[in-house]
Amino acid sequence: MDIQKIGVIGAGQMGNGIAHVMALAGYDVVLNDISQQALDAAVNAVKKNLTRQASKGKINQIDVDAALGRISTTLMLADIGKTDLVIEAATERETVKQAIFEDLLPHLLPHTILTSNTSSISITRLASRTDRPERFMGFHFMNPVPVMQLVELIRGIATDEATFAACHAVVAKLGKTAASAEDFPAFIVNRILMPMINEAVYTLYEGVGNVKSIDESMKLGANHPMGPLELADFIGLDTCLAIMNVLHDGLADTKYRPCPLLTKYVEAGWLGRKTQRGFYDYR
Ligand code: CAA
Repeated sequence: MDIQKIGVIGAGQMGNGIAHVMALAGYDVVLNDISQQALDAAVNAVKKNLTRQASKGKINQIDVDAALGRISTTLMLADIGKTDLVIEAATERETVKQAIFEDLLPHLLPHTILTSNTSSISITRLASRTDRPERFMGFHFMNPVPVMQLVELIRGIATDEATFAACHAVVAKLGKTAASAEDFPAFIVNRILMPMINEAVYTLYEGVGNVKSIDESMKLGANHPMGPLELADFIGLDTCLAIMNVLHDGLADTKYRPCPLLTKYVEAGWLGRKTQRGFYDYR
């Protein structure tokens, strides 16, 4: 199946990164959000990040202009329906994602493939609420999307091979590497990464180290590009907590219990970089 036009739902840091890489690879992109402010901020972020790539000599100004020219924005979910591939990148809450797919269904072309950029939620369950579970799968990018090489591709129980092959071909066209993961809570990357981040929060909670010593230990002692607390702030503490809850509920093992300190930060609205405050203060 030939994918040419891609709909991206959600203009946050993942959605704008996905729009960026898709447009740069030559796809026409329709980016949707419920807020015009979010759409404007997303286009500005794409412009800034493309310009950054151009200033490093990775692309040229013609690529920047062409990519920006391929991105259109819309507040109408219906406009997303007339595309070949939809990537939903809304908030990591199952009820939100289900409501979006439900609203989208009447507007879809028969051949449109539906995917979710969920980092943890069951693909099989999301697919079961649509009219096309065989053309539904997980398409999970890593943050920052323009930099990270990996895309996790997750088949739901009903996903057909043509759908998987079409998504695999898109990942190849992006110049990224696909990892195929089975549909179990948090798939591969977050099944491993989130318990590490949660353990770093426990390490802080129990006073074993402070924010600086924990992050420095993992950067200098384990060669991680970011410390786990800095990374948690970068991903968003609400997203980290949501993923830990999916692991805890889905695998019913106390080793996935979210650290109470992580819960407290989220309750305080200290969600990391996006709210200017998390384990670090960005104000
Ligand atoms: N768009 C385009 N380019 C970007 C960018 C963006 N948004 N962000 C960074 N870059 C580029 C920079 O221009 C720079 O390019 P060069 O190598 O050509 O100089 C390069 O990326 C490195 O950036 P910086 O020099 O600004 O900063 P850095 O060296 O500290 O790297 C980082 C930043 C790439 C984010 C690095 O710290 C890193 O890899 N951190 C870990 C990220 C990570 O683990 N991501 C996965 C999170 S888990 C996830 O996403 C799954 C989930 O579901 C939660």
